[in-house]
Amino acid sequence: MIETIDLHKDYRIGKVLFPALRGIDMKIEDGEFTAIAGPSGSGKTTLLNIIGCLDVPTRGKILIDGTNINELSSRRKAELRKTQIGFVFQTFNLIPVLTAYENVELPLVLLNLEPDKKKERIVAILEEVGLGEFIGRRPNEMSGGQQQRVAIARALVKEPTMVLADEPTANLDSTTAKEILALMQELNEKHGTTFIFSTHDQLVMDYSRRTINLRDGRIVEDKRKPKGPR
Ligand SMILES: Nc1ncnc2c1ncn2[C@@H]1O[C@H](COP(=O)(O)OP(=O)(O)OP(=O)(O)O)[C@@H](O)[C@H]1O
Ligand SMILES: [Mg+2]
Repeated sequence: MIETIDLHKDYRIGKVLFPALRGIDMKIEDGEFTAIAGPSGSGKTTLLNIIGCLDVPTRGKILIDGTNINELSSRRKAELRKTQIGFVFQTFNLIPVLTAYENVELPLVLLNLEPDKKKERIVAILEEVGLGEFIGRRPNEMSGGQQQRVAIARALVKEPTMVLADEPTANLDSTTAKEILALMQELNEKHGTTFIFSTHDQLVMDYSRRTINLRDGRIVEDKRKPKGPR
């Protein structure tokens, strides 16, 4: 579970402090499929980066499974990022000179897996996201939707407990966005992986089980949908 307690983030621009997060209190349980929504500049990316241990809060706490991550050494934090957290970015962030297979292999380079096991996992996840035939393609030989699938495979290959996706559909047309959301939904249900999105996109909110709305660094609404078909 992820819990934030009175989380604040100030950015310093010259001599001026800008409060990007102003007291975020929330709990996200394991296996949730949650969107963080809100207008541009409301603090979505800032919040995701702090949850993902890519940035630190100015004040307040963030607990992952009860551990205050501010108190972890940078080595333990890197370990947490490496094993538990997968990232999906708006612009996919694939390495252009590497094939789909090699891009997905990257996060595993840091883990000590047997070569055969590693290969099996990479092929299986690429097949799962529907890219079985694209294993040898480079990003510029694939569509946006296919590239985002590679990015999702890369986030999931290490079998993280949570995936953080910053505007994952922003560069996709609505048909492809729906396919990608359905895929993430399926992976969420099958593996129990927690998914947290930041988004402006109504489609993402439609697919989500819960929408946390931010305005000016504060939660203004936290809406859950009843269980059942989405
Ligand atoms: N590195 C930084 N230095 C200074 N200010 C920053 C920095 N990063 C973000 N901000 C400011 O903090 C606020 C929140 O930014 P953030 O990127 O979290 O918003 P967002 O909700 O993700 O917006 P968008 O929908 O446009 O991606 C914004 O006003 C932004 O200008
Ligand atoms: Mg953002």
